[in-house]
Amino acid sequence: MSNPNLDDDPEQPMTNPASLLSDALKLMESEMTQVNRTISERLTSDIALINTLGAYIVKSGGKRLRPLILLLCAKSCGYQGNYHVLLAAVIEFIHTATLLHDDVVDSSATRRGQATANEVWGNEASVLVGDFLYSRSFEMMVETQNMEVMNILAGTTNAIAEGEVLQLLNAHSPDTTEKQYLETIHRKTAKLFESAARLGGVIAQADTNAVEALSQYGIYLGTAFQLVDDILDYDASPEAIGKDVGDDLAEGKPTLPLIFAIKHGNAEQKKIVRQAIEQGDRGRINEILEIVRSTGALDYTMKKASEQSERAIAELSCLKNNPFTHSLVQLARFSVIRGS
Ligand code: IPE
Ligand code: IPE
Ligand code: MG
Ligand code: MG
Repeated sequence: MSNPNLDDDPEQPMTNPASLLSDALKLMESEMTQVNRTISERLTSDIALINTLGAYIVKSGGKRLRPLILLLCAKSCGYQGNYHVLLAAVIEFIHTATLLHDDVVDSSATRRGQATANEVWGNEASVLVGDFLYSRSFEMMVETQNMEVMNILAGTTNAIAEGEVLQLLNAHSPDTTEKQYLETIHRKTAKLFESAARLGGVIAQADTNAVEALSQYGIYLGTAFQLVDDILDYDASPEAIGKDVGDDLAEGKPTLPLIFAIKHGNAEQKKIVRQAIEQGDRGRINEILEIVRSTGALDYTMKKASEQSERAIAELSCLKNNPFTHSLVQLARFSVIRGS
C-alpha cells in the first residue's frame, strides 16, 4: 500500500494496543488536559444531582477516544485556534449522554469498572442527566457561531437516536441481517466518530478532499470499533472491559457474531442461537461463546473489523505526513486490537 503515513512505521505491531492509545494521548497531552478541564467546568449546574451523577460518570475514566480523534484531525490539518478543545468536550458530552441512556436501555449494571449510574441513582435520573448533557453540549456548540459545526452535530445526535431505536426494533429478532446490523452500528456508533473527525477538518478549514477523507476515516474506524465491542461482549473478561460480559445476549441483540453463527452453524447450533436471541438469556453465555468460536463467527467479525480499520488508514493517504496523522493511523489500529 502506498500510504506515506505508513512509511515511518514499517512493522507497526499488532502487539501493544495500550501504547497505541497512550502514545496518541501523550502527543495531545496539553490539549487533553484542557478538554478534561472544560468537561469539568461545563458539567456544573445548580441542581446538585446533575453535578453528582455527571461527575460520577465523567470522572470514572473512559478512553476519551472521540475527543482525541477530533484534536488530532484538527492538528493534522494545521489548525491553530482554540475551538478544537471546546468541540472535543462537546463530543465527549454527547458520547457520555448516549452511554447514560444506553445503560438504561440495555439494563447494564457496570460501566468503566464501576456500577452504572442507573444502578446507583435509577433509570429516571440517568435519562434526565443524559438529557442535560445533550442540551449542555448544544449550548456549547453554539458558542462557535459556526453553522456547519452545528449542522454536523445536530445531524449526529439525530442519527445516534435513530440507531438506538433501530437496534430496539431488531432486538429479539434472529432474522436480522448483516446489512441491517451494519446500518444500526453505522448510526449508533460510527456517526459520532465521523463527526469527531470531520469537525477537526472543518474547523481547520481543510480542503474538501481532506474533510471527506477524514469523515470516511471516522466512519470506518467507528464501525471497526463497534464490531470489536460486539466481540468483546462475548469474549473478554469484565475486568478488562470494565463492563459486564453478556449484556448483548441478555438483551437479545442480534450482533454480527450471532448473525454469522446462525447462517453458518449446524442445525443444532442455529437453533440454540436463534432461541438465545429470542429469549435474551444471559445464562447461556458459555454455550453461545463456544458456538461463536467454533463456527468462526468471532474470526469473521474480527476480519470485518480489520478490513474497516485498513480502509480508515487508507483514507489518510491524502493528508500531510505529520505526527498527528501518524497517531490517527495508530488509533485505527488500536480500534481493532484493543482489549478494553
Ligand atoms: C462505548 O464506547 C460505547 C461503544 C460505542 C461501544 P467506549 O469504549 O469508547 O467507551 P469509554 O468512553 O471508553 O468508556
Ligand atoms: C453503544 O452500543 C452505542 C451507544 C452508546 C450509542 P453498546 O450497547 O454495544 O455499548 P456498550 O457495550 O454498552 O458500551
Ligand atoms: Mg450497551
Ligand atoms: Mg457493547
